Amino acid sequence: MKQYGFLGLGIMGSAMARNLVNAGYPVTVWNRTPEKTRELERLGASVGDSPADVVARCDITFAMLADPAAARAVCFGDDSVLAGMTAGKGYVDFSTVDAETSREVKAAITARGGVYLEAPVSGSKKPAEDGTLIILAAGDRALYDEALPCLEKLGKKILHLGAVGNGARMKIVVNMIMGGMMAAFCEGLALGEKAELRVADILDILDAGALANPMFRLKGAGIAVGNYATAFPLKHMQKDLRLAIDLGDRLSQPLPCAAAVNEQFKEARKEGYGDEDFSAIFKVFT
Ligand SMILES: NC(=O)c1ccc[n+]([C@@H]2O[C@H](COP(=O)([O-])OP(=O)(O)OC[C@H]3O[C@@H](n4cnc5c(N)ncnc54)[C@H](OP(=O)(O)O)[C@@H]3O)[C@@H](O)[C@H]2O)c1
Repeated sequence: MKQYGFLGLGIMGSAMARNLVNAGYPVTVWNRTPEKTRELERLGASVGDSPADVVARCDITFAMLADPAAARAVCFGDDSVLAGMTAGKGYVDFSTVDAETSREVKAAITARGGVYLEAPVSGSKKPAEDGTLIILAAGDRALYDEALPCLEKLGKKILHLGAVGNGARMKIVVNMIMGGMMAAFCEGLALGEKAELRVADILDILDAGALANPMFRLKGAGIAVGNYATAFPLKHMQKDLRLAIDLGDRLSQPLPCAAAVNEQFKEARKEGYGDEDFSAIFKVFT
């Protein structure tokens, strides 16, 4: 029976690994902070000593890590993915990173005879728990086909977007739009409040017309009562805006909205809201 690894058990990775275990796959997990492996172990997962140990034990290893620095540390650092990689093994990275990081990881994996797929995901904590993510895969087609039964336990829509880099860039574009939408939404709510309008009325009116969307509905309900329980950490939204601005720099594409929104998210991090949900950006507008 094929063996599967999972590296990175944060908000998203823990839910995704749980879905694989609950689907009956034999999964070996690892997380930098070992305490986060306990729940998965209780559910039946094995626990590896290091990324190298997990990769050495498994046919396909999945990863869901914070950012490019984390993805690089786990791939290239001590006892890393590379140290356990041998010919024929697969590595599928769900982390949101820049295309350059993804291509460097791919080059290193393939130099060891392994195969690589980038697969950033759209959708947050609840879709991760429900197995209804949108998976933006790109890279080795045979590994995609091999991993597809697992991916189908994690997502409701799974795409193969071509060469490595296309998934990363797609994810960055989608999240840049999302960050801009959230900032415009919060700015409007803050203005409405200052103008002595009822937030509940603004939300109701938005939801009745062409601006209705699940994000405004879900996050608006939290903002209305000051609940910023973390589904998507604000620090990761700012990281994605940073990656979008870097992509715009590389392509000489002006991004005036994203640049302004990035400053607001940086301000929110400075105020100490980085680990709260990204909807906590509302607090810098009030
Ligand atoms: N949350 C969402 O709604 C959402 C949605 C779509 C995509 N994403 C993307 O998915 C990725 C994970 O998001 P998340 O919300 O699950 O984040 P998270 O809860 O902050 O988890 C981050 C994970 O990365 C690990 N990590 C961080 N730095 C590391 C390092 N230097 N070495 C090894 N491991 C390291 C953390 O380990 P520790 O436990 O030891 O800190 C943890 O397992 C990010 O790229 C994010 O942008 C998130």
